[in-house]
Amino acid sequence: MRTTFDVIDALTGYQPAAAIAAACRVGLFDVLGPGPRTPDEVAAAAGLAPKPTAALLAALTALGLLADGNVPTPLARRLASDGDLAPLVRKEAFFASVWTDLDPTLRTGLPRLAPWKERLRTEPEVARDFLAALAVLARETGPDLTVLPEFAPGRRVLDVGGALGSYAVPLAGAGAHVTLVDLPEVAVWARATVPDTVEVREADVLAVPACGVEPGSADTVLLSHLLHDLTDEQCATVLAEARKALAPGGSVVVIEIPGDAPGPLGPLFDLMMQIETPGRARKAVELADLLVSSGLRGVREAAYPRPVVVLIGESD
Ligand SMILES: C[S@@+](CC[C@H](N)C(=O)[O-])C[C@H]1O[C@@H](n2cnc3c(N)ncnc32)[C@H](O)[C@@H]1O
Repeated sequence: MRTTFDVIDALTGYQPAAAIAAACRVGLFDVLGPGPRTPDEVAAAAGLAPKPTAALLAALTALGLLADGNVPTPLARRLASDGDLAPLVRKEAFFASVWTDLDPTLRTGLPRLAPWKERLRTEPEVARDFLAALAVLARETGPDLTVLPEFAPGRRVLDVGGALGSYAVPLAGAGAHVTLVDLPEVAVWARATVPDTVEVREADVLAVPACGVEPGSADTVLLSHLLHDLTDEQCATVLAEARKALAPGGSVVVIEIPGDAPGPLGPLFDLMMQIETPGRARKAVELADLLVSSGLRGVREAAYPRPVVVLIGESD
């Protein structure tokens, strides 16, 4: 930041996020379109007060979500309650509420949120929304893994911490034989979400051998956005168990947003991890070191544009 205006922009960055989240919560995107509507008509349809609704509509138009006459753009339609981007809005609105109170984490060094396993029991809807949002992020912004030989049709892929099938679904769709492993609560949700072609198993991969599958039964183990949730010791455990799951010559593939991703993204993602998990967003070189230390050979980065890092290493 170089000017006072840059600081002011950063300080008011909460406003677009809050406006979009509120518009979703009050169902504004549900009552719009397809033709033009006056602010009063929109307010009446949504059961809202006319004056602030007019201001919100003008703000959403200025943000590029609405066209003239309060006609929703294709993106705005995807923000309706049944739209595919709705879980993403709820995820970020939840984290915005947490980020307004970072002080306890800074003072204690402890995550602001309860451990993930506890959150699965105490706030299952928030947890499920979070995982649904990760599937949206994978689809919209994630690397296309189907182009890698490690995920070629017929390969036996073990997706460790696979959530609701962010990567398992497209990989199975492209012909890989995918087994998704996740914690019991998540496995129940995954079974209701993924096609029958994906096998879903439940396991705490920090507590069972070979990540919960038969040793030597996978050609490729995928660890996508899992290592940042874990301490260095836990990463070493998961990587060791992933290697046991692999057939001779199999590969481990790691996807992460590294702490040194360009601009503020990497450091802010690391701060997010401090609030959310006992882990951290490691730099790309630190991630590669973790793979090398676990005994994987030929560790290399696949050619995807940053911010994402995709690392591959082979087992003996
Ligand atoms: C940040 S999410 C990443 C989800 C998915 N791989 C993706 O890239 O979108 C981490 C996933 O790992 C799972 N997970 C965390 N700890 C786990 C453990 N000990 N055993 C099995 N799964 C675990 C979580 O339940 C969650 O689904």
